[in-house]
Amino acid sequence: MTIDIEAARAILRANDRGGYTVPTDRLYPFQWNWDSAFVAMGWATFDEERAWRELERLVEGQWDDGMVPHIVFHAPSDDYFPGPDVWRTRHSVPTSGITQPPVFATALRHVFESARGPDAQARAARLYRCALASHDWWDRARDPEGTGLVAILHPWESGMDNSPAWDEAMARLTLQPMTPIRRRDISHIGAEMRPRDEDYHRFIALVDLYAGLGWEPAAMWAASPFKLVDVATNAILHKAEEDLLVLAGQFGSDAERSRIAERMARRAAAFAGLWNQDRRIYQALDLGTGTKVDASTSAGLLPLFAGIPDAHQAAELAAELENWLARAPYPVPSTSPLDPRFEPKRYWRGPVWAVVNFMIAEGFARYEHMALATRIRTATLALMRNGGIAEYFDPTSGEGLGGGQFSWTAAIGLLMTDQSARAQHGL
Ligand code: DGY
Repeated sequence: MTIDIEAARAILRANDRGGYTVPTDRLYPFQWNWDSAFVAMGWATFDEERAWRELERLVEGQWDDGMVPHIVFHAPSDDYFPGPDVWRTRHSVPTSGITQPPVFATALRHVFESARGPDAQARAARLYRCALASHDWWDRARDPEGTGLVAILHPWESGMDNSPAWDEAMARLTLQPMTPIRRRDISHIGAEMRPRDEDYHRFIALVDLYAGLGWEPAAMWAASPFKLVDVATNAILHKAEEDLLVLAGQFGSDAERSRIAERMARRAAAFAGLWNQDRRIYQALDLGTGTKVDASTSAGLLPLFAGIPDAHQAAELAAELENWLARAPYPVPSTSPLDPRFEPKRYWRGPVWAVVNFMIAEGFARYEHMALATRIRTATLALMRNGGIAEYFDPTSGEGLGGGQFSWTAAIGLLMTDQSARAQHGL
């Protein structure tokens, strides 16, 4: 169970722009938040210094209030829309004004625990503070009512931009964008693999609304017509809190440890409200309507990664996934193939993503569903061997899609190969 290790490392080296890694050349020419967290774990398999730098360069974009933005625009590029002129934020390294799933603390723990260098303690201690500030921001800015679960205010914050889970809320938007839309993505790859124009219209309308509010979290919360409790974001945050709590054991205070533990207890209990027993999966909650969104997506399996489900729910999730795989054999489709909105080639409406597979496989392994975990890991590496180290893959054919030479796919290839080598050596 392996891939061409040298080819995967070469992708990270080629996408290195000086301490940060672009997701792929041209299509995404800056540093993306959750991409970089996975990529740091990939670097950690062969270049410890570079793994640290990835995390350190990401927090150059961290705002004073603790938010880690979804894009850090370290150097200008005309290849991407919307650039800094559209975001109009005030940070001194230009950044976007929204965030992305907080994988950072999980990556930090991983890099720290695999580090051997003499400066590891000092670097981790500093980055622990950044991770804590980011989690405190999530709690304050995105769960101001103290429900235990955080909300996203833009589909891009989920990282799963055009998931069918956002369709209804997006269709309700009446806002119009002020900024002219000049899509650059579809000059790099086929429009049939990307979100549609109507999605971009709404993505930018929300950016314009928040830019007009000066990116002030309380004003954004009050004014937002798009407020969704995303399963993936909450699951990833919960796993990140678990990892942060471990780091707090070394680098934090008693008060910090109890703050993290209290948040975790509240969140774990609140997750019960996202479980849909009929669909046998977790689903997002739309705070605009107060109802669960009836869309079954790979996000709904991610609570496994955070240890949220009980054993019965974990078995239900495994059975549900088996159903999907009877229709689309390459795990894990981003939207259920049983859902009429499933599109096997269009960005987050069907394709397989290696980073999601990594988290879901970790999740099933956590619940001792080892056969399924191994199946997902083996299939992920096979997709890369046969379809290339692509941005995503068609779950019906295994074809590689989207951007090529993709950093986070390479990183997951390196991580999973490393894991399987360790397992073989009983480590
Ligand atoms: C994009 O531009 O497609 C990104 O996913 C948004 O961050």
